[in-house]
Amino acid sequence: MKAIILKTFGPAENLEYIEKEIPVAGPEEILIKTRSISINPIDVKVRAGQRPAFKEKLPLILGWDIAGDIISSGENVKTFKTGDRVFGMICFPDPGNAYAEFTVAPAKDLAIIPTHVAYAEAACSGIAALTALQALKNFAPVQANQRVLIHAAAGGVGHFAVQLAKYFGAYVIGTASAGNKDFVLDLGANECIDYKTTVFEDEIKDIDLVIDTIGGDYIERSLKTMKAGATIVSIPSILNAQVSQLAEAQGKHGYPLLVKQNTKDLNFIADLLAKGILKPFISHVFSFDEMVAAHRQIESGKTRGKIVVSF
Ligand SMILES: NC(=O)c1ccc[n+]([C@@H]2O[C@H](COP(=O)([O-])OP(=O)(O)OC[C@H]3O[C@@H](n4cnc5c(N)ncnc54)[C@H](OP(=O)(O)O)[C@@H]3O)[C@@H](O)[C@H]2O)c1
Repeated sequence: MKAIILKTFGPAENLEYIEKEIPVAGPEEILIKTRSISINPIDVKVRAGQRPAFKEKLPLILGWDIAGDIISSGENVKTFKTGDRVFGMICFPDPGNAYAEFTVAPAKDLAIIPTHVAYAEAACSGIAALTALQALKNFAPVQANQRVLIHAAAGGVGHFAVQLAKYFGAYVIGTASAGNKDFVLDLGANECIDYKTTVFEDEIKDIDLVIDTIGGDYIERSLKTMKAGATIVSIPSILNAQVSQLAEAQGKHGYPLLVKQNTKDLNFIADLLAKGILKPFISHVFSFDEMVAAHRQIESGKTRGKIVVSF
């Protein structure tokens, strides 16, 4: 089978196409024929060497978000059958091995793709959708009519977070550049602030929950928009290390988030996809031969919604 291997950290050109044997599923695992994968900022950060812990795992195959068909299952897998269409965030945070024509994944990391949901849409709904859901629900669960501020509302995590926060009944304020304003409002946001022309902390107040996808000085700036006792969940690892101390110093709550596989959460997302309540937006579809271009797109920091690589 064709796969893409990363032998050394560096630019996108370090992604190397190889031929390798189709893997074999262990007792709790499933062998999947890949139909679509989505590319996330974490793929790019690992490739570029911004996550040094992966050094001891080189050479590795990147990719965590997958959608495909079950070819075979390990002897202990009772939840799926051959031919089922499945999706999920696989093996995270170990290397996911999804940049390949076939991959093996633990059955617990997968859910059935609902009928009428395309492989590409399902592939988008792993890391980004799970992150958005866990940010909204795992720390200070969002309540109806609460005011929620979502940074980078047009991005992969943000565009799911807007839709989910609206589904939970919140009043949603997103930040995005002017070109994404209509996109963010169409997702359901009540307001969209242009972060390039507006000092957002001067305009926004009485926030109950901040979903911070930027980190760094956005943490202190966002704290200014928050009510006493409100919560900020900060998502970008490394850039969010101070969030708890900074928030507690102001009588507020701050939590760093690392997305976790959770079968219940994945099935919840599948159910919202099936009902058309959650709609992944795919701005670019690349072929497997175009992985370098896909990485460059994510690296731009300007991606609207999600991008996929389809097979
Ligand atoms: N810790 C975890 O478990 C975890 C999980 C998922 C993601 N993450 C991290 O969370 C971050 C976001 O991920 P993502 O997938 O949503 O990224 P993404 O899709 O690449 O984000 C792109 C979006 O960011 C917007 N943007 C850039 N700078 C902005 C700013 N200063 N203010 C507002 N919007 C801005 C852009 O909108 P404009 O073009 O309008 O500027 C674009 O739509 C990444 O750092 C990722 O690694 C962490």
